[in-house]
Amino acid sequence: MEEKKIKDQIDQTEKAAIDEVLIPTEEPQRQYYFIEKARRDLAELSAKAGRPLTFCVTTFGCQMNARDSEKLVGILEQVGYVEEPEEEKADFVIYNTCTVRENANQRVYGRLGQLGRAKKKNPYMMIGLCGCMMQEPHVVEKLKKSYRFVDLIFGTHNIYKFAELLATRLESERMVIDIWKDTDKIVEDLPVERKYSFKSGVNIMFGCNNFCSYCIVPYVRGRERSRDPKAIIREIERLVEDGVVEVMLLGQNVNSYGKTLEEPMTFARLLKEIEKIDGLERIRFMTSHPKDLSDELIEVMGNSKKICKHLHLPVQSGSSRILQKMNRRYTKEQYLTLVDKIRTAVPDISLTTDIIVGFPGETEEDFQETLDVVRKVRYDSAFTFIYSKRSGTPAAVMEDQVPEEVVKDRFNRLLKEVQDISAEVCAVHEGTVQTALVECRNDHDERLMTGRLSNNLLVHFPGDESLIGKLVEVSLDECHGFYYMGKMV
Ligand code: 5AD
Ligand code: SF4
Repeated sequence: MEEKKIKDQIDQTEKAAIDEVLIPTEEPQRQYYFIEKARRDLAELSAKAGRPLTFCVTTFGCQMNARDSEKLVGILEQVGYVEEPEEEKADFVIYNTCTVRENANQRVYGRLGQLGRAKKKNPYMMIGLCGCMMQEPHVVEKLKKSYRFVDLIFGTHNIYKFAELLATRLESERMVIDIWKDTDKIVEDLPVERKYSFKSGVNIMFGCNNFCSYCIVPYVRGRERSRDPKAIIREIERLVEDGVVEVMLLGQNVNSYGKTLEEPMTFARLLKEIEKIDGLERIRFMTSHPKDLSDELIEVMGNSKKICKHLHLPVQSGSSRILQKMNRRYTKEQYLTLVDKIRTAVPDISLTTDIIVGFPGETEEDFQETLDVVRKVRYDSAFTFIYSKRSGTPAAVMEDQVPEEVVKDRFNRLLKEVQDISAEVCAVHEGTVQTALVECRNDHDERLMTGRLSNNLLVHFPGDESLIGKLVEVSLDECHGFYYMGKMV
C-alpha cells in the first residue's frame, strides 16, 4: 500500500516533469501550447454540459481596450468557446475594465454583483476581469475580499498570457490572479478575432511616459514602448490580405512613436511606410499629444492620399495656468498656433478634442479660457469630462478641489457651446459628394446603410449589405447635427 502511494507520487512527479519539459518557454509558442491544453479541457466540460460553452467579452473604455478585447476573443474562439452576445446567457463573462474615471470602476462593481447572482444558477459559469482597473492594488484586494466568485483576474501587461491563465483556471478550480507591475515585453503573432472584417485597430505602442497630473494611465499601462516598425507593417500587410481597407494606429501618444526603439524612428516616417502598402485605403491614428506633434507629421498628413482628414488633439484645458498644473507641457497660445499650422497644411481637416472641467484650482477665468479655445478652434466634436480624482496621481492631493455644483454648471455650459459649434461645423459639408466606407446596416431603418467619411462623420443612405466594407461616393444631402442623410452617386 505504502509502496503504491510512493510509486503514484513518483509517477505524478515524472508526469509533471515531462509536462514541464514539453511546455515551450518561448512566446508565442508557449501560448499556443496552452490554447491546445485549454481546448482539451473545455471539450471535456462541454461534453459534460451537453452543449457548446459560450463567452461574452464586455469592453469598457478606450480603443486600446477594444483592441485588447479582440485579442481575448481570438483566443477564446481558438479554445472552442462560442460567442454569446447576451452577457446574462454566457458561460464565461469577461470584463475588460477602464479606470480613467472613478464612475467606470463603480459600474464594474455594480455589474459584478449581478453576475455573482447569475453564477449561482449556472454551474459552468466563469467570470474573468482584466484591463486597467486590475492594475490598481486596492481593486484586487477588494475583489479578493468581497467578490470571491470571480475566477480569473489579470492586468494589462500580461494579457498575452490569457491562454495560459485560462488553462490554469480550467485545471484548478481556484481563483487565478496574475498582475504584473510593468513589462517591456511585446509578444507578436497571437490569434486575434476582429470585430469588423474591413477595418482594424493596430497597436503601434503601449504605455505612456507623460504623467499628466490627473491621469492614471502611466501607472496602469506602464512605460512607453514602441513596436518594431517591421512587425507593424507585416501585421497591416496581413490584415490587407484578409480584406482590411482601413487601419486605426493605436497608442496613448502616437506622436512620440519610435523614441524608445533601438533604431529610433519617427511617427511621420512610420506613416510614410504604411502609406506604401498596396490595397490599404485609409489610415487613422489616435491619440496625439499636442506637445509632440511635429512639423514633419503635419507635412506627411498634408501630402498623404490615405491618412484620413481627422485629428484628435486633446486640449484638456484652455488655461495656460491649468495646463501647467496638468503637466501638459504646452500653453494655450502654443496649442492655437499648432491648430493654425495644421489647418494651413490640411485645410479641410476635422479636429476633435478631449476637455476636462473642474481640475483642482480651476477658476471661472480659467474656464472662460477653455470656452475661448473651443470658440476659436471650432471643433467638429469634443469629449467633455468632469475631473475625476484618481488616487495615486499628483492632482488627487492638490488643494482647491472645485465644488461639485460649480463643476456641473461649467460642464453644462461647455457642453452647450461644444454642441452648438459642432452642429454648425458639421453642416459645412452639406451638398458635397464624399467617399464613405460602408460599415453596417442602419440600426433604426433597415433600408439604410451607414458609412464613415474621411473626417469621421457618419452618413446614412439607401443601400444593401453587399456594400459593407466598400468605399462608395455619397452625396451629403442633409445634415442632422452630427450625421448626414445622403445617397450614393
Ligand atoms: N478625470 C477626468 N478625465 C480624465 N481623463 C483622463 N484622466 C481623467 C481624470 N482623472 C480624460 C482626458 C483624456 C481622456 C481619455 O480621459 O481628457 O484625454
Ligand atoms: Fe494620460 Fe496624459 Fe498619457 Fe494621455 S498623455 S494617457 S492623458 S498621461
